[in-house]
Amino acid sequence: MAPRDNIVELPPQASRIGGAWVTGSAWIDVNDPATGAIIGRVPNLGAEETERAVTAATGAMPAWAARTAAERADILRAWHALVLSKRTWLARLLTLEQGKPIVEAEAEIDYAAAYILWFAEEARRVYGEIIPAPTGDTRILVLRQPVGVVGAITPWNFPAAMITRKLAPAVAAGCGVVLKPAIETPFTAIALIDLAEQAGIPAGLLNLVTGDAEPIGAVLTTDPRVRKISFTGSTAVGARLFAQSASTMKRLGLELGGNAPFVVFEDADLDAAVTGAIQAKFRNAGQTCVCADRFYIQQSIYPAFIERFAAAMAHLRSGSGFAPGVTIGPVIHERALTRLEKLIEEAMQSGARLLCGGTRSKGAGTFLEPTLLCDVDHSMRIVSDEVFGPIAAVMPFADEAEVIERCNASEAGLAAYFYARDHARIWRVAEAIEAGMIGVNTGRISTEVAPFGGVKSSGIGREGSRHGIEAFCELKYVCLDIGSGEKAA
Ligand code: SIN
Repeated sequence: MAPRDNIVELPPQASRIGGAWVTGSAWIDVNDPATGAIIGRVPNLGAEETERAVTAATGAMPAWAARTAAERADILRAWHALVLSKRTWLARLLTLEQGKPIVEAEAEIDYAAAYILWFAEEARRVYGEIIPAPTGDTRILVLRQPVGVVGAITPWNFPAAMITRKLAPAVAAGCGVVLKPAIETPFTAIALIDLAEQAGIPAGLLNLVTGDAEPIGAVLTTDPRVRKISFTGSTAVGARLFAQSASTMKRLGLELGGNAPFVVFEDADLDAAVTGAIQAKFRNAGQTCVCADRFYIQQSIYPAFIERFAAAMAHLRSGSGFAPGVTIGPVIHERALTRLEKLIEEAMQSGARLLCGGTRSKGAGTFLEPTLLCDVDHSMRIVSDEVFGPIAAVMPFADEAEVIERCNASEAGLAAYFYARDHARIWRVAEAIEAGMIGVNTGRISTEVAPFGGVKSSGIGREGSRHGIEAFCELKYVCLDIGSGEKAA
């Protein structure tokens, strides 16, 4: 029998510190954004428990780092296998607390698992170096060692993949971790940590503290035993964590907000561009930091693109992520929905044309109908702000120089997309756009094998790919005086 909607077994409603489930006297309710119903609760822990978690990670780390790379890799593989064996349950848990359609939740579990496998493989390739020395009696070696205890702070939009993208390389490199998951989506995180321990990751190496961001973040950023902060979330919070981490000189991995341009040149395959636009805009109801936010369409194809884009959007169906055929889930909470409504209203007051959507759905959940606004311009917040919702804002442009200038007229520089056929143009534009990731003739760029991250205010560092593990390693140079040959004789 197929599992009934919304009936999902929860993992323990507790934090995990030093290999023990921990609760407290204060609690935070967790909601299903599709119904507004409370689905469970987690303890609201603070500074004291976070310090205990740092102590546990600090204690567990040396023995873990001393294991061979092959042993760490094998345990990561076992975690990967366990996650996939629980794929259906994890995906349903994710949909329950986050809202995304079940098909997308399953794809996220696969994506999350792929990071674990990738870094299980990379664990075996953390090589050192021997550098030709300037004198005959010295040898210069470079060791790659684990960076130390990592404070990982993860968002609600990808409650599984953003955790494994940080924790798998940390564990592969030999680090201990204190994870603070988003308070909107703690259950997927708890389930993943539980599975990691079942797979053989030693108690205390991975700790998870649920609670308000402020006190937990304050300990993670100021405790000298924490050597690295790895954060995915807004630029404003990233900047605060950066400042707070300064006094203890922590390494930082910051994957922050985007405001991705999506450009269609007149020589593009228009149908492919529309397909890519739907993928790049509406994945996770527009709540990804690589979502296309501002659509620039070359003047001569502007009317045709809008017509086809609106027709494709008419096939999107919003509703509970558990319902068959639904492609757009709710936005995460009422605050997010109200903000999106305001952005639409402001844009329309400034002259944008609403072609579809624009209204919230009736009922308890926080749904915004997929919205298409055209004739927007750069003075509008719908263009300059990161949208983080199912709203596409479209405008025309005249030529390549103009559109490159517009793409780069943003503090954000995470992802960008463009469609064109001319090869010379493809190279020119890909090289000119200021972004960490560029999709050319595709609306899908996320994969564990490629370096994910941004430039400008979109952050520091890269996650995933072979570079992703470097962020969890520290270089140590050893200068060895081997003495002269005469002495030895
Ligand atoms: C994010 O939105 O932070 C991550 C999106 C992705 O990995 O595709």
